[in-house]
Order: sequence, then structure tokens, then C-alpha cells
Amino acid sequence: MKTYRIATVPGDGIGQEIVPLGVKVLQKAAQAFGFNLQFDFYPWGAGYYQEHGDFMPADGIETLKSYDAIYFGAVGLPSVDDTLPAMLYTFKVRTSLEQYVNYRPVRLLPGYDAPLRNKGPEQIDFIVIRENNEGEFVQNGKIQYGDKPYGFATETNLFTRAGIERIAHYSFQLARKRRKRLTNVTKSNTLIYTLAYWDRVIAEVATQYPDVEYRQMYVDNAAASFVLRPEVFDVVLTTNMIGDILSDLGGAIMGSLGLGPSGNINPEKNFPSMFEPIHGSAPDIAGQGIANPVGQIWSGALMLEHLGEQAAADAIVKAIEKVIASGLHTVDLGGNASSQDLTEAIIAQL
Ligand code: NAI
Ligand code: MG
Repeated sequence: MKTYRIATVPGDGIGQEIVPLGVKVLQKAAQAFGFNLQFDFYPWGAGYYQEHGDFMPADGIETLKSYDAIYFGAVGLPSVDDTLPAMLYTFKVRTSLEQYVNYRPVRLLPGYDAPLRNKGPEQIDFIVIRENNEGEFVQNGKIQYGDKPYGFATETNLFTRAGIERIAHYSFQLARKRRKRLTNVTKSNTLIYTLAYWDRVIAEVATQYPDVEYRQMYVDNAAASFVLRPEVFDVVLTTNMIGDILSDLGGAIMGSLGLGPSGNINPEKNFPSMFEPIHGSAPDIAGQGIANPVGQIWSGALMLEHLGEQAAADAIVKAIEKVIASGLHTVDLGGNASSQDLTEAIIAQL
């Protein structure tokens, strides 16, 4: 029987509660579909930093490299400097392991009152592809004379032709498998160097996919359109920061940040990919057992899909849909079910 080795990093806050629940669902799916999952847990994150001075040990990235995939919760604690989690964990992993695709489905599940009352599952079904290694988040800058009246800060975006081309090809190929529509969300009317270059390279790649309908949209319009006419979107290709913001808006129109899944993907499979919900460690609700586990569980389904276990992945998504449609909802969706209740119901469906 095939065995996949999964590095499991619950992280902080609700990550510690919902990652073990996601693991239970994945174990059940593996058992039902005839493969093995070996989960090795690593206690990394902001809590680990408080004891050890770093978010992971010095050989942490090397450790991750030996796995088939990484199953991750979220990092960050109110008591730890919040400029550290991205630098010392999330972006470190995403760039070291060349996970240049951030794959974020936005889909309305039937069965609850979502914020866009006049839109149904037919109208909200698209994927945000966020460039995940470059752009606004390369953390290239400095703060000087910070406490002086003449203090200043600077931070430079970075876009490479190779980086834009690879995310563009990934997105057009994805669009081909879907409704063949790609929207490049940009802001090249004001970021006239970096995003104008981004647009130019994407438009060049677009000529290689004449069967995919290509358009460009400014992010301000795109934000409004997510709410007013989400049905125009199929694959949304965008930059690191724009994608970060828009995919939380995507989570919101789904009804809760707690629903959204994501994959940080290295498509060539030279390195393991990492799967995590779109939300953070939610310290405001941590420790109460009420976090919505759906985004975490759905991220597990994306992981199985990436590993090639499509049937098991589909079964998990179907189980989530059935449970949500049955009316069993956590607090964020207006119900009173616990994280555990949701998980058990999803396992029962499998
Ligand atoms: P957040 O996503 O943790 O929480 C935002 C709001 O959504 C909160 O009111 C929270 O209760 C709610 N929420 C989030 N997930 C939920 C779930 N599963 N069920 C029900 N409600 C849920 O974002 P916030 O508050 O901006 O950040 C908190 C910490 O998380 C910070 O330290 C931040 O740096 C970190 N963070 C980490 C990420 C990662 O590890 N990839 C991503 C985003 C934030
Ligand atoms: Mg985010």
C-alpha cells in the first residue's frame, strides 16, 4: 500500500485545535481509499519561538524537504512581534521550497445564509492564483532613524520575468481545465513599473493560450466585482499582496474566513507543497473549541489532490458539502456546533 509522509505543523492558536481534526479526517479518507498517511508533528511557530528564539530549528527547511507534503495550520501569537511569523516561517517555507503558486478556491457551499444573499453556488465558483514568491512581499527594505523626526522606511517590490511567466502558464493551464476565463488583477495604472511589466509579460503568455479568454482588471474594480458580480470570475491571477487581500475577501463572500482552503504549490514537485487554511491563528477564539475546521479539512483535500489521490480528495469535499447543507454550523456561520462536532459529522459522511 502506498504511504505518503506528511510533515504536520499545527502552529499557534486555533491551528493547534483544527490541525489534529484535519488529520483525523485525512486518516479516515486514507483508510477508505486504500493508502497510508504518516503524519509527523512539528511543534513550530510563535510558541516555539518564545522558548527557542526561532520559529523552527536551523535544519527545519531540510527536515521539511524529506516529506511528500506539509500540512499546516497558522502561526502568530499576540505576545510575539507580528513582523516575525512571515519572515521566520510562512514566507521562509514558501520561498525556500519554491512554492510559487498560492491556490485559493472560492466556492459558495449550499446550506447557510452567505453574505451575498442574491448570489448562489452557481455564481460564486472561482480560484484565486496568487503569485507566492515575489512581488510586494520579498521583504527587501529598511527602517532608518525610526525614532527621529527624519526617520524613514523603504520597501522595494520585486518582479522577475521568469517568476511572472511561470505563474501565468500555471494559471492559463488551470483555466483550460475550467471555464477557460482568466482575469489578471493588477494596478498598473499606478504601479507603472512593476505591474506594467507584470501585465506585459502575462499578455505575452496569453497569446500562447488563444482558447482562454483573457482580460485585465484593476484591483479596486475587482474588489467591488467580487461582491457585485462574482460570476464573471473563473481563474483570477494576481500578485502576492493583492492575492492575499482578495482571497480573504473571497473567504468573506463564502461566508467565513474559516471556510477557505489553500495550497502553496511547487508544481514541478521538486519540493513538497504546503496546505493551510486561508485564515490565521485567530487568537480571539483560540482555546474554545469553536473554530470552523472546514478550511483546514478542505486544505487536506487539496493536499490529497496534489498527491494524486483525487477520489479521496473529492470524497472529503463532498462530505464537507453534505454536512454544511445539513445545517450543522459553527458559530461563524451562525450555528452552535463545535469544531469537533463538524469533524465527526464529516468523518461519518466518509
Ligand atoms: P485571523 O484569520 O486569524 O482572524 C481574523 C478573524 O476571523 C478573527 O475574528 C477570527 O476569529 C476569525 N476566524 C479566523 N479563522 C476562523 C475559523 N477557522 N473559524 C471561525 N472564525 C475564524 O487573522 P488576524 O486576526 O489578522 O491574525 C491573527 C494572527 O494570525 C496574527 O498573528 C497573524 O499574523 C496570523 N496570521 C497567520 C497566517 C498564517 O500563518 N498563514 C495567515 C494570517 C494571519
Ligand atoms: Mg492572508
